[in-house]
Amino acid sequence: MPVPHTLAPTTRAQGGAVVSVLVALFLIGLLVLAGIYLLHWLDTRYAPEEAIAEHAGRADDPEFIARGEYLARAGDCIGCHITEGGEPYAGGTPFDTPFGTLYSPNITPDPETGIGDWSDADFVRAMHKGVGKEGKRLYPAFPYPSYTKLSVEDTLAIKAYLFSLEPVRSEVPDNQLRFPFNMRFAVKVWNLLYLDEERFQPDPQQSESWNRGAFLVEALGHCGDCHTSRNLLAATTGDKFAGADIEGWRAFNITPSTHGGIGDWSAEELVQYLRSGIAPGRATAQGPMVDVIQYSTRFLTDADLAAMAEYLASIPPVDTSERPRSAWGEPAQDVVALRGAPAEDKPLGARLYVANCASCHDWTGGGVGDGRAGTYPRLFENSDVGSRQTANLVRTIMHGVHRQTNEVEVFMPGFAGMLDNEEVAALSNYVIEQFGNPTAEPVTAETVASLRDEE
Ligand code: HEC
Ligand code: HEC
Ligand code: HEC
Repeated sequence: MPVPHTLAPTTRAQGGAVVSVLVALFLIGLLVLAGIYLLHWLDTRYAPEEAIAEHAGRADDPEFIARGEYLARAGDCIGCHITEGGEPYAGGTPFDTPFGTLYSPNITPDPETGIGDWSDADFVRAMHKGVGKEGKRLYPAFPYPSYTKLSVEDTLAIKAYLFSLEPVRSEVPDNQLRFPFNMRFAVKVWNLLYLDEERFQPDPQQSESWNRGAFLVEALGHCGDCHTSRNLLAATTGDKFAGADIEGWRAFNITPSTHGGIGDWSAEELVQYLRSGIAPGRATAQGPMVDVIQYSTRFLTDADLAAMAEYLASIPPVDTSERPRSAWGEPAQDVVALRGAPAEDKPLGARLYVANCASCHDWTGGGVGDGRAGTYPRLFENSDVGSRQTANLVRTIMHGVHRQTNEVEVFMPGFAGMLDNEEVAALSNYVIEQFGNPTAEPVTAETVASLRDEE
């Protein structure tokens, strides 16, 4: 149909305007991209040469290496750069992110598959800027947003330690990231938004131990990586240390709130937990917290752990409106009746408990031994059973416990292969009813199935 001629000129003019707007937008887009690329490129040139030169020649100094080893422990570098049964620091750990799967690289000094050919400046750039060799931008699954707080000296001590190790030849699998997240330079945008790039500054108003604790918790321990919730771009923008979901577990609120946090724990209890993974009457460490303890915090001095406890007690408490997780439960009273009753009268959960758990945790749930590492803990007055969030309990039952402490190896078998979803749910509900938090939602077979999948 012919266009009525009265309308034609305006339509043409509008069309022209649309084209110019599109062209302008396209040019602006190009400019923005170029700008981001330029900023990225500037980071790849970053090298605090004076500070690096100050520590030249210290790489062979045993004291400097020992300091680096301690710092690498405090930073839990092994925890992410190791696979089950693999060599420490040889990498290959998969990280499932919302953007695809990443593998931690080999950071032993092997020149071909590791970081053996990295200069001091290369290493400092990775830790401070998240930029790897040849300008390769690193994803923040590597906690450089925390390590950026380290001084050049501490960073080089860690490098000296890593370079004192035997090189391990180990190729790690290629990353599988989806477009557009596989464009590494674009991580610069994330950094512009979320990276607070500065070295740790002691607060002169606070004690020396408080500052030491703040440094260990914030710069090296990267506790917020798991205990602070993330936004859609995986930045930890939630209430600091107020709890988050991670790998199917709940990393609990560890602010000093007495309504959901750990405000009722004494400093000694927190030190004991970080040293051994168990604080009787409070919690035992399961899931992702196991690695933190067995690769990292158990190697720290008591003075450093106490400093961390001092700092954590001083951060703003965040209430999540529940009673302390460890406030729940008492020994089961009805076990004597259960003992005599015919099997078919006992609920499924109770039968499963007696058959699978009572040998170690006792009929009453009271445990065996004094509750220290290596004994069988009571099932009441602890976080996993007393939490309103039941994922950790279900996962502990399915996967068991395996944790190396300084004194003993702690072990509980996993029941995932022996019990089906229905049975794990019935057992979890029995444990919650008897020993746990009555305000927790009952566990369903569907929940168990979903937690099984998240391995
Ligand atoms: C929470 C897990 C995690 C921890 C803890 C961790 N890393 Fe990594 N690291 C990674 C991941 C994942 C990558 C790969 C990132 C990428 O490919 O973009 C990485 C990359 C690196 C790289 C770059 C290597 C290369 O070949 O590009 C270096 C160097 C490194 N880490 C050193 C360390 C040091 C030193 C520590 C301890 C202070 C440490 N990492 C702790 C997960 C971790
Ligand atoms: C890799 C993730 C991760 C990191 C890093 C991490 N945590 Fe945890 N944390 C967890 C998880 C998951 C739990 C719950 C463990 C459980 O169910 O037994 C937990 C539990 C805890 C608890 C017990 C809380 C309670 O109420 O039972 C404390 C205390 C704690 N973490 C302190 C720390 C500190 C301090 C750091 C830093 C040095 C840290 N965590 C780093 C994942 C992590
Ligand atoms: C062979 C002995 C053994 C058996 C059988 C056993 N457990 Fe355990 N359980 C342990 C040990 C050891 C720990 C870990 C203590 C630690 O982490 O320090 C533990 C920890 C737990 C925890 C975590 C407690 C806490 O304080 O956070 C729960 C919950 C639990 N067991 C439930 C069960 C259930 C339910 C069963 C039966 C399906 C069971 N256990 C069977 C030995 C056992």
